[in-house]
Amino acid sequence: MNDALLITGCAHGIGRAAAVMAAARGVPLALLDLDGAALEALGDGLRAAHPGLRVVTAVVDVTQAEAVAAAMRRAASALGGFRAVIANAGGVSSLVVAGMLPGAFSPFTDSRPEEWRRIIDLNLFGVLNTAHAAVPMLLEVGGGRLVLVASVAGLVGAPGLGVYAASKGAVIAFGKSLAKELAPRGISVNTVAPGGVATRAFPPGSPGAAKRAERIPMGRLAAPEEVANTLLYFALDAPDYVTGEVLSVSGGPPA
Ligand SMILES: NC(=O)c1ccc[n+]([C@@H]2O[C@H](COP(=O)([O-])OP(=O)(O)OC[C@H]3O[C@@H](n4cnc5c(N)ncnc54)[C@H](O)[C@@H]3O)[C@@H](O)[C@H]2O)c1
Repeated sequence: MNDALLITGCAHGIGRAAAVMAAARGVPLALLDLDGAALEALGDGLRAAHPGLRVVTAVVDVTQAEAVAAAMRRAASALGGFRAVIANAGGVSSLVVAGMLPGAFSPFTDSRPEEWRRIIDLNLFGVLNTAHAAVPMLLEVGGGRLVLVASVAGLVGAPGLGVYAASKGAVIAFGKSLAKELAPRGISVNTVAPGGVATRAFPPGSPGAAKRAERIPMGRLAAPEEVANTLLYFALDAPDYVTGEVLSVSGGPPA
């Protein structure tokens, strides 16, 4: 089986950490993100740091099914297929940065249907589009691994982020369903549910980061690398027999 790995949403945060860590292991990479400038900088940096490593980048919006499939096909033909795909793109930070959400944390009754759709579009449809394009490509190479990124919000809820929590709960249910569907066909599907992670959602030193850390048993946010490590575990290292799992990476059981 080809040993290449595709990651969505890897210009920043957890996905970026996963790309950097996989590159250090010599894993050929296809990197997809909406933020072209940051993505190209990452691709150039990885090629410079690891001469000879095959790294392809594609600027794509994961909410656009046909664009995702086309970008994935191009990347697969450049790398000779994939061993694993990590559907990581999501969160609310990108929507806030793009001016598509007024603020991440607001009471549900103050939110509007168009905001719900944006959140669901990125965090649920983005994963569905990625999986829909990835599965046939993994089947073509005889099987592989799909890793989904959800959130502990999808397990225990999150006040002020109910629609985001709903989208992540849906990702968890989808992952378990797809794992059952694909187990006989040689594709594992596992889901990682991060708690609070020190990315753009919780910039180090910010009041939001401190407040989030108070609710974590270990009393601190995760470093992006701590979550990326579990993504790479499922994508590269876990036994083939592990599928349909949901692993919280949350510094203690989330309340
Ligand atoms: N940071 C946390 O505390 C936390 C907690 C739980 C779950 N998560 C999940 O982890 C994943 C990564 O989050 P993060 O904190 O690293 O976020 P981030 O905002 O730092 O990075 C997200 C990446 O996804 C890209 N992206 C956004 N919209 C996209 C789109 N439409 N198409 C393609 N790429 C797109 C962004 O450009 C960025 O590179 C998300 O699924 C998020 O929901 C994060």
